[in-house]
Amino acid sequence: MLNFSFANPTKIHFGEQQIALIKNEIPADAKVLVTYGGGSIKSNGVYDQVVDALSEHTWFEFAGIEPNPSYQTCMKAVALVKEQHIDYILAVGGGSVADGSKFIAAAANYDGEPWDILSKGGEIKSAIALGVVLTLPATGSESNGNSVVSNLDTHEKLAFASPLVLPRFAVLDPAVTFSLPNRQVANGIVDAFVHTMEQYLTYDVGAKLQDRFAEGILMTLIEEGPKAFSEPDNYQVRANIMWSATMALNGLIGAGVPQDWATHMIGHEMTAMYGLDHAQTLAIVLPRMMAAQKETKRGKILQYAERVLGLDISDKDAAIEQAITATEGFFHSVNMPTRLSDYQLGEEVADKIVQQLERHGMTAIGERGQVTLDTSHAILLASV
Ligand code: NZQ
Ligand code: ZN
Repeated sequence: MLNFSFANPTKIHFGEQQIALIKNEIPADAKVLVTYGGGSIKSNGVYDQVVDALSEHTWFEFAGIEPNPSYQTCMKAVALVKEQHIDYILAVGGGSVADGSKFIAAAANYDGEPWDILSKGGEIKSAIALGVVLTLPATGSESNGNSVVSNLDTHEKLAFASPLVLPRFAVLDPAVTFSLPNRQVANGIVDAFVHTMEQYLTYDVGAKLQDRFAEGILMTLIEEGPKAFSEPDNYQVRANIMWSATMALNGLIGAGVPQDWATHMIGHEMTAMYGLDHAQTLAIVLPRMMAAQKETKRGKILQYAERVLGLDISDKDAAIEQAITATEGFFHSVNMPTRLSDYQLGEEVADKIVQQLERHGMTAIGERGQVTLDTSHAILLASV
């Protein structure tokens, strides 16, 4: 096992009607900014629950944080934070609202041009306190320190991470996910699945418990994911998916193990360039990434084949092929397309994305730096 330091201080309130608890989590004298997206929270009752919970607080609101939150929108919220002397941000929405709010929290206290936080690794010395009411299980953003923000002017989608933007608390009520459109349900399941794979499907370092945690998440998503479509009103299904997504990226399964993230790096460029949803890009890239890396990842693909998929691995080469096909089949089982051509995109994507990867220094990605620009190019060509 590799050395690690682990802390996840985000307090989770999980279950129905837990939104009311934010009343106790945010200091009574705080000046709160409630941030949200395009309005889904107004039609599914979440906004009303938040308003009730904040009835004794002083609060303001900022709407319109879009999917793949933009720097441009976030900076408008930063201006409001400064104008109103906000000292607590409550993000109500999916990963985009959570990520955008993390950037707002850091940018408001940043000395200099806040885009530098993303483009130059500008150091964050302090950030405004943040809480999250999660409405879309997918990213794990509700209890991690990561944020991904896009720049509409430059077509860049860049990430930063800081423990200072870790949410102080997060409310996860699976009932609020009943209103998700199918496309977003699928996005969430696939994103959580690929997060787990990025931390599991690397090489063995003897981290038995992390492996089994990861396998548990993958098996739960494979079992419960399709039920979110066949039994859309089943609360337990939603609860299992929601908790799996949080556990997939809260630091636990990634502690003490090598991590890959090459699929994500290529995917982020695809979203920035072509506007595909985050998880749509991952479902296209991962099967081809597995195929391209089947030698470097051989041991772990076989472990995944046997323990997660229950395949007979006596013929190892055949088992690896079956595991890749089954992974793509799982994405299809949650109605997620897996080809560039499903989005009317073709071979032209390979050159464009590789240019962007090069621009961002992503020339040797993956757990061993083994995914070169040529490998990424070949993966994209094979994904048409
Ligand atoms: O904006 P509203 O109206 O709220 O609608 C949203 C949005 O259109 C809708 N939605 C959310 N909850 C809903 C709902 N609609 C009905 N009922 C509900 N309960 O869903 C749409 C998509 O929301 P979004 O927040 O964009 O989705 P997601 O949670 O998948 O977040 C994606 C973003 O997170 C980043 C991605 O790159 C992308 O920008 N990621 C963040 C990570 C992190 N912080 O650790 C890691 C991930 O790998 C990922 O990169
Ligand atoms: Zn992701």
